[in-house]
Amino acid sequence: MVASDGAPQWLDREEVRAGKPTGDDISRLVRRGFGLRKFVPPVLPGAANALMMLTANPSADFAQIAELVRSDMGIAGRILELANSPLYMTGDPIASIEQAISRLGATVLGELAAVVSLEIAVFDHPGYHRALMEVRNHCVAVARLAEAVCEELHIQNQWIPIAGLFHDCGIAASLVLIATAYGDDTPPLEEAWDELDRVHAKAGWHVVKAWGVPEPVAEIVKGHHDLSGQGEVKRAQAVICVADMLAAEGASAIRGEAPVVPDTIDLRTFGEACALLELGESALRGLRLDAEDFVASFD
Ligand SMILES: [Fe+2]
Ligand SMILES: [Fe+2]
Repeated sequence: MVASDGAPQWLDREEVRAGKPTGDDISRLVRRGFGLRKFVPPVLPGAANALMMLTANPSADFAQIAELVRSDMGIAGRILELANSPLYMTGDPIASIEQAISRLGATVLGELAAVVSLEIAVFDHPGYHRALMEVRNHCVAVARLAEAVCEELHIQNQWIPIAGLFHDCGIAASLVLIATAYGDDTPPLEEAWDELDRVHAKAGWHVVKAWGVPEPVAEIVKGHHDLSGQGEVKRAQAVICVADMLAAEGASAIRGEAPVVPDTIDLRTFGEACALLELGESALRGLRLDAEDFVASFD
C-alpha cells in the first residue's frame, strides 16, 4: 500500500525523512520492511508459480504441464518467445507449447516460468532500472551455471535451478522498496549497497516465503552467502555460491567492467563451498570456461 506522496503507508513520516536518505535511513527502512514483514512483495502470477511447482515434480506429465501453460496466454507467449531466443533455442524455431515442452524439457520450462515471473511481477522501477535488469540477468546466469555444477558433480536436486533464479531477489525487492519510499530522493545504488549486501539473502527468504515457494528454495536463498543450512540444503547453497562466483568471474572476464550491482561471494565462503562439494581445480577450470561462454551468449 502506497501513500499519495509515494511512500508506503506503513512508514511513519519520520522514517522517510525529507531529502536524501542516509545509510542509517536505508538500513532502518529495509530492516523494518522485511524484518517486521510490513513490505508485501508483488505477487507471483499464479500460473507461473504453479508451473514452477509442476515442472519440479518428477511425476508430473506432459499433458498437465501443457494445459497449465495454455491457461495463461501471457505466460505461454513469453515462454515461446524465450524458447526461441538465442539463450534457449537449440534447433528450428518452436511454434507450439507442445514443441516447447518436448524440446526444452520440464526443468527448463520451470526455469522459464520463474524468469517470466520475475519479469511480470517482480521488480522494475525507473529509479533503479539498470541495476534491476542486471540482477535479473545475473540470476538467470546463476541458475544455468548451477545446473552446470550439478551436472559436473552428478548432483540431483530439483530446487537448485529455481533457487538460482531467485537467489538475489532480495536485492531487487529491497531496491524497489527504497525507490518507492524515497521517490525523487532515491539514493544512488552505491549509497544503498552496504545495507543491501548485509540483508539481501534474508530479504530474499522473506520474498520467496511470501510467494509460497517450497521451503527448501527459501532456505537455499537465505544461505547463499553463508552456507548456513544443513545436509542437502547446505550442499545446494554451496552449488549456488559456486555458480554465483562463476557468474561474477565470467561477467568481468567477458565484459571487462565492474557490475552495477557488486554482489560478491567472499573467497573464504567460496573455498568452503568448493571443499564441501569436493570440486577440484580441473573441474573448476572447465566450469569457468562454461561461465565465459554463457555470459558471452547473453550479450
Ligand atoms: Fe547474493
Ligand atoms: Fe548473486
